[in-house]
Amino acid sequence: MDTLTITQPDDWHLHVRTGSMLRAVIGHTARQFARAIIMPNLKPPVVSVAQALAYRDEILAALPPGSDFQPLMTLYLTGNTSADEIRRVADSDHVHAIKLYPAGATTNSDAGVGDIRAVYPVFEAMARHDVPLLVHGEAPEPGHDIFDREKAFIDAHLSDIHRQFPELRIVFEHVTTQDAVAFVESAGDNVAATITPQHLLYNRNALLAGGVRPHFYCLPILKREHHRQALLKAATSGNRKFFLGTDSAPHSTLLKESACGCAGCFSAHAALELYAEAFEQMQALDKLEAFASFNGPDFYRLPRNIGRVTLVKQPWQVPASYPVKDSVTLTPLRAGETMAWQLLSTFG
Ligand code: DOR
Ligand code: ZN
Repeated sequence: MDTLTITQPDDWHLHVRTGSMLRAVIGHTARQFARAIIMPNLKPPVVSVAQALAYRDEILAALPPGSDFQPLMTLYLTGNTSADEIRRVADSDHVHAIKLYPAGATTNSDAGVGDIRAVYPVFEAMARHDVPLLVHGEAPEPGHDIFDREKAFIDAHLSDIHRQFPELRIVFEHVTTQDAVAFVESAGDNVAATITPQHLLYNRNALLAGGVRPHFYCLPILKREHHRQALLKAATSGNRKFFLGTDSAPHSTLLKESACGCAGCFSAHAALELYAEAFEQMQALDKLEAFASFNGPDFYRLPRNIGRVTLVKQPWQVPASYPVKDSVTLTPLRAGETMAWQLLSTFG
């Protein structure tokens, strides 16, 4: 198959930051996707509907002229999130979910939740108002081995949250292990998961291939090959619980290539093409449309897109970097390498 036309996809997990970084990255996403769930882990975090609406305005103002890309906003859950704020989310046309970062688990998670059981009353309000909970599912305690943190979170928290609030819609974000796939598959219909392109295409060897490779460092960290195989199987299975969420997370080249480099892979420049490569590995390109364009909106109870996009098997070279501002640059996933698939036309 040399061309593939599918319904225009959405990205159900995306970081776009603010200011010059936002302006540098947003066009890449808007070129491919109709909508994206925007992560709230700014400094300071987006904790109220009012802040989310202001952030949405900033994103809209940064879009290329003529773009009708829609940012779908989220709030950052803290120990202070109130039931009133949950009601405001439920009443809002623009805020679609609330994100749980266990404190200390990842980038800008310091303001996250330290005692997860203490926010159960918030989960109760979310279940009542039918507001989805998005979860960064890693146990943050430094005692856990970094490769075991996802499973530890399922065992210590996620199973219990789902048991206590079976009506609560939960997206287990960027799943990386066989354990997470098994949890989602065996959970009720209210539990779904996003999968990133890097976790479908790479295992943990990519981090240390001939030397330290900081551009493959993200959280949750890349795992062993058998976990990657489980993710590929889940994504291409046709199971409606799994959908596209790039977790594209830009940091400047300088902050990535550092003695203590930031976590996050920038993939928005080639997102759909990367997924196409993964699905082709599984001889499952016919399953890409449901994963990229149907399962997400169905879970979020939003209409599927009407436009179409076309991918062609036509090699192109990813630039070594993209400019951000002055001498600041951004190094994309696959920098300097060749991509097999190219996104051609959009919309219509
Ligand atoms: O690698 C990551 N980067 N994982 C996250 O959870 C956060 C993200 C970021 O904001 O950079
Ligand atoms: Zn993320």
